[in-house]
Amino acid sequence: MPKLIVVNREGEESAIEVESGLTVMEAVRDNGFDELLALCGGCCSCATCHIYVDPAFADKLPKLSEDEDDLLESSDHRNETSRLSCQIPFEDALDGLKITIAAED
Ligand code: FES
Repeated sequence: MPKLIVVNREGEESAIEVESGLTVMEAVRDNGFDELLALCGGCCSCATCHIYVDPAFADKLPKLSEDEDDLLESSDHRNETSRLSCQIPFEDALDGLKITIAAED
């Protein structure tokens, strides 16, 4: 199974294996990272699944939608690598992707 590297808010890194068909948010949440609240359950309306994505994978990620962009804009912690993890299906091509859970707003 492809691997996802997750860095939590304390800077600790863990590798998790991801079943196909999950989004990055679902994979992180289902592996016990309670820092990623994902309050809306993945329907792109809460921004509590905010992550930073390794720029090396930028061209393999789905494009930012207008809704995702607007929600990220409401965060005080947005940077150029910010994404909402519920909007990223974890494909095999993302094997080895490193993400960092963003600071809480
Ligand atoms: S889980 Fe709410 S926007 Fe991603």
